[in-house]
Amino acid sequence: MSDSPILVTGGAGFIGSHLVDALLAKGYAVRVLDNLSSGKPGNLPLENPRLELIVGDVADAALVLRAVAGCQAVAHLAAVASVQASVDDPVSTHQSNFVGTLNVCEAMRQHGVKRVLFASSAAVYGNNGEGLAIDEDTPKAPLTPYAVDKLGSEQYLDFYRRQHGLEPAIFRFFNIFGPRQDPSSPYSGVISIFIERAQQGLPITVFGDGEQTRDFVYVGDLVGLLLRALELPVLEVGAANVGLNRATSLNQLLAEIAGVLGGLPQVTYVAARAGDIRHSRANNQRLLSRYGFPEPTPMAMGLAQLLAH
Ligand code: NAD
Ligand code: UD1
Repeated sequence: MSDSPILVTGGAGFIGSHLVDALLAKGYAVRVLDNLSSGKPGNLPLENPRLELIVGDVADAALVLRAVAGCQAVAHLAAVASVQASVDDPVSTHQSNFVGTLNVCEAMRQHGVKRVLFASSAAVYGNNGEGLAIDEDTPKAPLTPYAVDKLGSEQYLDFYRRQHGLEPAIFRFFNIFGPRQDPSSPYSGVISIFIERAQQGLPITVFGDGEQTRDFVYVGDLVGLLLRALELPVLEVGAANVGLNRATSLNQLLAEIAGVLGGLPQVTYVAARAGDIRHSRANNQRLLSRYGFPEPTPMAMGLAQLLAH
């Protein structure tokens, strides 16, 4: 294994910090570039001498060029993860979610770094799933600036693949959950919000009738997948969905949480959020055939890990 680091952009965040832990555990050196807008230094084992944290912005091209220098590969996870934040402030989130990706591509080209993992999103499909399992060839219908920026980022990565030999592994994450997902904003991941409020005995709000569905993936399972993609000798072209082909409604999720906690506080149903996707479920055949996906962590076990955190 080469001693040159893996750069993890967004490495102080929820998913990124789990990837950093896994990389360090496998013996890699790791460099994190994160502006700490939602990530936290406390998510990182900063005492580990094989970990370097650069606090800065992926929209800063000169900084990204310095951060990529000497790295053997990049995991590009930095982005404003809240879809709603992109609706409220498209100009600012575009800097992180799109310009940041272009800067990473260009810095990799200049330094001759080839392998890059990219965190795209199921959001690129908009409502085109219509409740069926969505495969990667489903027409794209990005409904928000977040989704437009993810799709544009995918296309830039593909341009750099064709033109400059980059080796992108593009993943369209469905809904990832687990410890360190920050519940502090109303637009945080639903599981992190429900668990925090249930633990504190605070009322829970469901937007809509609770019958909307998501395909939830435990963060530990995702990280195993990212490691495999990093180490595969040859990557196939085109994005892969990351989901379990399993639809869980919010009402089912609440029942699971009640089962793990032994009860629930008051649950109130209010109007659905404008533009909210009704059903989202991954066809994951491509994921399974390319990367494999060992037995996924059951929802109840993932929730228990989250509670123990
Ligand atoms: P997160 O907010 O915990 O992590 C994002 C990290 O990026 C944070 O540490 C943040 O400080 C950092 N960041 C944001 N803008 C930056 C910038 N301009 N420069 C440098 N750092 C910046 O969210 P997460 O859930 O861990 O998301 C990680 C990635 O996965 C994101 O790209 C997100 O869009 C994508 N994703 C997440 C989900 C999910 O369900 N959590 C689903 C699909 C895609
Ligand atoms: C999530 C991710 C997004 C990713 C997408 C891919 C976050 C914050 N968002 O968006 O980055 O690209 O998956 O599939 O990680 N809800 C409630 N009550 C609440 C909070 C939410 O009812 O208190 C509802 C929402 O209205 C929605 C569902 O729960 O119907 C899921 O919401 P959320 O966790 O924000 O996820 P997505 O919008 O699917």
